[in-house]
Amino acid sequence: MLTLREVTKEYKVGAFGGKTVAAVKGVSFDVVPGEVVSLIGESGSGKSTIGRMILGLHPVTSGTITFDGRPVRAGKDYYRHVQGIFQDPFSSFNPVFKADRVFAMIKEAYYPDVPAAEWAERVETSLRDVRLNPAQVLGKYPHQLSGGQLQRLLIARALLLDIKLLVADEITSMLDASTRIDVLNLLAELKTRGLGVLYITHDLSLGTYLAERTVVLRRGRVAEMGPTDEVFGDPLHPYTRELLSAVPRLHESWDDAAPVESCLYHDKGGTGGLLEAAPGHFVACSALPSCPSGEV
Ligand SMILES: Nc1ncnc2c1ncn2[C@@H]1O[C@H](COP(=O)(O)OP(=O)(O)OP(=O)(O)O)[C@@H](O)[C@H]1O
Ligand SMILES: [Mg+2]
Repeated sequence: MLTLREVTKEYKVGAFGGKTVAAVKGVSFDVVPGEVVSLIGESGSGKSTIGRMILGLHPVTSGTITFDGRPVRAGKDYYRHVQGIFQDPFSSFNPVFKADRVFAMIKEAYYPDVPAAEWAERVETSLRDVRLNPAQVLGKYPHQLSGGQLQRLLIARALLLDIKLLVADEITSMLDASTRIDVLNLLAELKTRGLGVLYITHDLSLGTYLAERTVVLRRGRVAEMGPTDEVFGDPLHPYTRELLSAVPRLHESWDDAAPVESCLYHDKGGTGGLLEAAPGHFVACSALPSCPSGEV
């Protein structure tokens, strides 16, 4: 469904745009229907940049992003299937309009011919799907709703469209613990409906809870990716181990993990990039100790 191949992003910076920052470097991964993929990495590693490129908000510098075989093209047809939700739900709402205006905007843009009564019914259904009581949220202003309620309203809005992929960028970081679990349970439910979710986070334990696959991003590159239980249960990249060590409860025996003593990729005759260490479990060689490329 969603395919990234060798995606690179360079931002122009400086007063005259003369300098560039390479935020994303040669990133390739897929998200298939009914799958949650976590994109994990520390601040500045390029996670949101990848999310924004997938949403067509920033052009790629090189490489390709395709959705159902077609290149990303920002516009109504694309956003019918691909939607993004971000960290701060308040920023997605105009404070002077009632929160349900987000639904009216969807109707105007996508379903102008649906009769009002049928539309109201659809909105109610999507609200109940995200476990919001329509009577409690419709007609309220954003400041009268909690962050968790607004986040759920945004998910309900996405459900009104025929979405296939949701890009969720740090959507739980502003929520308290119990609301966070609610929103995560909701995302887990979305995947049972066949949606693909790219779950961007720096919160390892919650990412694990949700995702079948995990992509670990470091300084704009994929350090390691694969099935979540393998990436966390048998981390091959020192950076992944470092991330795990910050969450001791998640992987109690991480100290016992065998140290990476040599560059796996070059040992096997590779020339750089990602090594498939186990089926579907990839690790970057360039950052491993004793990698001849010397790049860390
Ligand atoms: N619009 C922009 N112009 C210039 N540089 C940018 C822009 N947006 C991001 N960057 C730079 O690109 C790099 C990656 O940023 P990005 O926001 O993608 O990281 P992130 O992984 O989402 O971080 P965080 O966890 O803090 O949200 C950073 O060095 C950042 O400073
Ligand atoms: Mg970000």
